[in-house]
Amino acid sequence: MKGATNPQSFDRIVREVFAPIYPIIAEQIVTKTAIKSGKCLDAGCGTGALGRAIARITNLDITFFDQSDEMLELAKGYANDENIGNRSTFLQGDIHAIPLKDESVDIVISRGSSPFWDDWYKAYSEIIRVLKPGGMTYIGGGFGNAQLREDIVKTMSENNPDWRNSFKDRLKPERDALPSILASLNPIGYELVNDDSGFWTIITK
Ligand SMILES: C[S@@+](CC[C@H](N)C(=O)[O-])C[C@H]1O[C@@H](n2cnc3c(N)ncnc32)[C@H](O)[C@@H]1O
Repeated sequence: MKGATNPQSFDRIVREVFAPIYPIIAEQIVTKTAIKSGKCLDAGCGTGALGRAIARITNLDITFFDQSDEMLELAKGYANDENIGNRSTFLQGDIHAIPLKDESVDIVISRGSSPFWDDWYKAYSEIIRVLKPGGMTYIGGGFGNAQLREDIVKTMSENNPDWRNSFKDRLKPERDALPSILASLNPIGYELVNDDSGFWTIITK
């Protein structure tokens, strides 16, 4: 299963190494979109760290969505521990056929999952289908800021000297493909951010 070969070891990395990035990315999402209530889909949520961080600073109800049941079980445990279980839903499925109704979601967030999607045209069509008119996305990958990225690269490289190369250009094929995909899906607007915060696709339906 792509992007979830070992949920237990991914969970440990999120807790021990990636943890500081999620509150920063959540702040960046709220600053950029100003969406603080309604329904948020965390697509490819893994253990739910980004969705949980955004739940803490907004009134959003979060649908934690992943292809991996094991990731979703971990996400559920954390959401309950953090007392956001009453605003959380857990949904198993594939981004290429999202099991949600048309125009049912206010914001789709996703970090570190899109490089594993097989068909970006289909995935982004589905994302736009489930968004309400005026809804937005914040989809891509990043580590919050340059300092955190460098700290994480250093820590991860201690165990795997090739780690920097393994993630460095992971988003490039998607980055290259997105302008024509988005031109053909033709949402109201979109912005492709590519800076120290990472690479993010911000769509407004
Ligand atoms: C690297 S993890 C990132 C998890 C989380 N967003 C984070 O930043 O901590 C990628 C996640 O995407 C999920 N994923 C990959 N392809 C998917 C697909 N086609 N549909 C749904 N989830 C997918 C994997 O199961 C995995 O949990």
